[in-house]
Amino acid sequence: MSQQLAGIVKGLHHITLVTSNQEVNRRFYTEVLGLRRVKYTVNQDDVLHRHLFYADEKGTTGSAITFFEWPDLPKGLIGLGSPHHLAYSVSNIDAIPKWKAWLISQGVSVNGPFARDGRVSLYLRDPDGVNIEITHPNTDGEISQDYLKGQDKNPPTVNEITHDMRLVKFNHATPVSYDSHQTALFFDKLLGLKNPFTKQNPDQPETAITAIGNDDQPDFLRYIVSDQASRGIVGKGNVHHIAMAVESDEEQQKIERRLNDLGIHNSGVIDRFWFHSLYFRDPDGNLLEIATKGPGYTRDESLEKLGTSLILPPWEEPQRSEIERVLKETDSKNPVTWPPKYPRVVSPPESIVVPKKQITEEAAPA
Ligand SMILES: [Fe+2]
Ligand SMILES: [Fe+2]
Repeated sequence: MSQQLAGIVKGLHHITLVTSNQEVNRRFYTEVLGLRRVKYTVNQDDVLHRHLFYADEKGTTGSAITFFEWPDLPKGLIGLGSPHHLAYSVSNIDAIPKWKAWLISQGVSVNGPFARDGRVSLYLRDPDGVNIEITHPNTDGEISQDYLKGQDKNPPTVNEITHDMRLVKFNHATPVSYDSHQTALFFDKLLGLKNPFTKQNPDQPETAITAIGNDDQPDFLRYIVSDQASRGIVGKGNVHHIAMAVESDEEQQKIERRLNDLGIHNSGVIDRFWFHSLYFRDPDGNLLEIATKGPGYTRDESLEKLGTSLILPPWEEPQRSEIERVLKETDSKNPVTWPPKYPRVVSPPESIVVPKKQITEEAAPA
């Protein structure tokens, strides 16, 4: 185990996805999910396309879901290299039936809640088809499925997102892997992260859930694992990358050295102005990032003004008029449909497409 790096990764920093339309995306994440846009900027690797950040009121590390707007990209496909879903925590279990009532009132397709696997979870999809889970621990199983069914018969009336419903922070992200042992070894050797369990996936018994995490959050990554998993494609409605947090530049540099020592191809540290980033891939091709907690989203905007206008890192300011011109042109070809037609939630929610096991001659009855 990578002893010297154990404890260095502080859970998730942000998760970045792909959206087809920034205005539909903004309305969904702010009006329907109650997050705040904390940065409205462009993709620093592709400056003529937007990068949108939504988080809690303060932009707390671990609460930010971010999107690249790429209207011309094809729809993505979940699989190896293209993660399955992300989950937000809520601070009390009664928020889950409230979320269900609220989302249904907004026309969003939902599935659940389910009491399983030590948690109660509700599933939904955003307008682009992103799979989102809202979850709360149910460690001792005090909430039963029968209790949840009873609640379904008498749903609460919810006219707005109340304080107790707020999406607090990410609980986990779920990429797809081919091999649980390889995944566990990778995170252990590289980052000193632990694999507290690999167990049968309750939603799809022929697949497994492999947890990766630290002492505080033992399963902030919950891989769905199957040796039958096929390659995914990152596109609209999919996760682009998953970023994990470190406290400081020094800690990030330790990880960079470790990547280089292990011969793992990486981007080197890149200055993203609001944080510093280091990118690499896991053995299944999922794009991962190590991001520093600072300097933070308030580096160039006051807390009150976060996300209210197009903001560029200083080195992109000379291109502002060209960027604004192209974004306007993009919008003119990309009409806004609101409310959107929401995609239906897949069932069971935490399952992947796995080809049916072939019955071989040896397995066939004599
Ligand atoms: Fe999940
Ligand atoms: Fe990122």
